[in-house]
Amino acid sequence: MRDGGAEPTPGLPAHVRRFPFPFPHGQYMYSVNVEPAGRFRPTAAGGWGRRIVEVDDDYSQDLSVRRSILARDPSRAAETPHLRPSVWGALNFVLTELAGAYPDSMRYERSGTRCRWTNQLTGTGLFFTYGDDTTVPGGPLRFLSSQMQEDFALLHHREGALWLDAGVVTFASNWSLRFDVGLPFSEIHAPVPRVADLGVIERAEKFLIGLQPGEPYRRTNWSVSVDRRLDISTETYPEWGPHRASIAEDPALPDRLHLRVEVQHLIKVPSTGGLLFLIRTHLLSLRDLALVPVWRARFGEVLRGLPEDLVEYKGLARIRGPAADWLLGSGKD
Ligand code: HEM
Repeated sequence: MRDGGAEPTPGLPAHVRRFPFPFPHGQYMYSVNVEPAGRFRPTAAGGWGRRIVEVDDDYSQDLSVRRSILARDPSRAAETPHLRPSVWGALNFVLTELAGAYPDSMRYERSGTRCRWTNQLTGTGLFFTYGDDTTVPGGPLRFLSSQMQEDFALLHHREGALWLDAGVVTFASNWSLRFDVGLPFSEIHAPVPRVADLGVIERAEKFLIGLQPGEPYRRTNWSVSVDRRLDISTETYPEWGPHRASIAEDPALPDRLHLRVEVQHLIKVPSTGGLLFLIRTHLLSLRDLALVPVWRARFGEVLRGLPEDLVEYKGLARIRGPAADWLLGSGKD
């Protein structure tokens, strides 16, 4: 269904048309909002969702931002040596997906352990040996993060729980891979209000443990960013935190404040059984969002009705009022 049943607005820019607007109605509450991946999801502006790993116009820029973050702070990549087989499985899965989705610019050939990866967008032409870390630049974990815009984490099932064991996360939404790596799913979610009482985390973990290999699922999550800033991790809070307060008074709020939507994919990699969690972050300014009247009103309602504990957790205390006022039309332009 289109959100609100509206027909797409003609003449919208491409980044608006494909934006994964996450609100089916004007109230928001946490839930285990998972659905099978790969299905096109129409929206009031166009639609999204055909691909698991998606390349867009910001590909080169996002990868370059990731490179400099990793150079400055290597703790954004985390792994333990005994997990290498699982990392290789994830790399193989993602390269296969990319090559299938973008055959004009990417190609992946594999015969036994001999592999060849060509990516015209990054200028990569690489022969490598599957399982031999020395044959891919930086090792398989870093290399994987250099070919897709998505952040990723790898989780494994043991002792009745899912454990976060590895990943590269440079665009975290106010959390830190370094703090969370080595923790079980339930502890990772401990800071999130309500989810324990709602049973969301327990149900989600059961669902993920029971996932069938190769049957991808997806969900969305949302927050806000000031400016087109992807890295709002705990580590860089001093750089972005103060903007959350000052933006409330800023006449440029509709241009600077962005709805930040994560499209998250969950895949049990068939060759290894590792759970690959892909996080793709999309940003849309309120100004652009308002080009779609249904979205403008809907996000305004969501913000206005958001319970206080979620407002606090999402860091919206100063922002919610002015943003909702502007969206719902009572604010100044
Ligand atoms: C945050 C649910 C999978 C890591 C959250 C939040 C919810 C949630 C509701 C709060 C988001 C917000 O208000 O911004 C779920 C569900 C999942 C799932 C239903 C699967 C069906 C995962 C996986 C990971 C993960 C696989 C693995 C890394 C996190 C982290 C946070 C988070 C790090 C931020 C916690 C913090 O504030 O420190 N999740 N999640 N989630 N989730 Fe998940």
